[in-house]
Amino acid sequence: MLKEMLVTCVRGLEDISCKEIYKITGRRCRKAWSGALKLRASYKDIFLLNYTSKTISRVIVLLAEEEFKSLDDIYKIVKNIDFTEFIEKDQSFAVRSKREGKHDFTSIDVARVVGQGVIDSYRDSARVRLRVNLDEPDVIVRCYVRQNFFMIGIDTTGDRALYKRGYRKYHHPASLNPAIANAMVRISEFKEEESFIDPFCGGGTICIEAVHYVCNVPNFFRNDYAFWKLRFLDIEEFKNVKRKIDEKVFIKKLNVSGCDLFEKHVKGAKLNAESAKVSINFFKCDATKIMLNYDKIVSNLPFGLRIGRKKVVYELYKHFQENLKNGEFKRCILLVADYKRFEFDEKIDIVYGNLPAHILIIKG
Ligand SMILES: C[S@@+](CC[C@H](N)C(=O)[O-])C[C@H]1O[C@@H](n2cnc3c(N)ncnc32)[C@H](O)[C@@H]1O
Repeated sequence: MLKEMLVTCVRGLEDISCKEIYKITGRRCRKAWSGALKLRASYKDIFLLNYTSKTISRVIVLLAEEEFKSLDDIYKIVKNIDFTEFIEKDQSFAVRSKREGKHDFTSIDVARVVGQGVIDSYRDSARVRLRVNLDEPDVIVRCYVRQNFFMIGIDTTGDRALYKRGYRKYHHPASLNPAIANAMVRISEFKEEESFIDPFCGGGTICIEAVHYVCNVPNFFRNDYAFWKLRFLDIEEFKNVKRKIDEKVFIKKLNVSGCDLFEKHVKGAKLNAESAKVSINFFKCDATKIMLNYDKIVSNLPFGLRIGRKKVVYELYKHFQENLKNGEFKRCILLVADYKRFEFDEKIDIVYGNLPAHILIIKG
């Protein structure tokens, strides 16, 4: 039986995530809003998506979506849902809520009202008062309020979104969200037989995601998925799915390199690569001077916000572009904050953290 699912992803990368979801499940999805997709999928797809998808954040089984005018309306929507299929009598739950738009209430108010709705609905159907456990709930009820629209569902991923991969040992001060890194690798169309470099590699996220992408490595560096505690799902089915996927994983030695101006980041990247079980050639370099003869160049340049000052960073952009012109490459994908400083062929606008950022595609 198919259920309506809500999948969250990076804002601006909905098309990339839709393509990935189609590749994994064979199911088409549509954009619900910026950073959220909807699709009809099976319970098995929940396992497949959580365990193998690299560009999405969370998979949520949708229970209701309706317009509302007041918190009272939200309470009524929730109270009308039968939760007995999704939460067992002895299980605890917690509500996580996110709100966007102008309202005279906060997301904490939403969580409180939704929590009361769940408790009252459950008491009416099963004559049991459900336990609330905000720190370690068995079931996470996730809801979104967007302007006058309310959505509620059961989170199958958990408090740690899927971009928290679990392989990072060295935390670079400006480390990139691995879901964005993975999407950039997909945009580069990197293939097994090609050479690849990230010349501003920091902690090595892009290089690690590149190898994981080509070698179809699943999310096996973590095991804290919320679905383990969801009893309406058949966990034996997950174990079968996982076994079949794991059997096929073979991490090959690819021609992937990463370099950074600072030795401490190079060391950190090596530590992360070891933890992610990949072999990558990390070395110290100046990206404005090294020969950039690689099939694919994928990089996240300093934004000039968190590290470095704007003027210094603009100089760096200028020299890097001059150097790029001397290189021979097929495709170069850059994540930048200020695209006006670059010559490029295509641009994808994304939201990174809460900042606008741009993925630039430069054809060699
Ligand atoms: C935004 S960070 C990259 C973060 C990385 N994507 C990650 O996930 O950890 C940019 C990196 O560029 C490096 N960098 C700055 N100038 C450089 C240069 N001229 N050559 C090489 N690396 C440089 C910085 O040391 C920093 O680690």
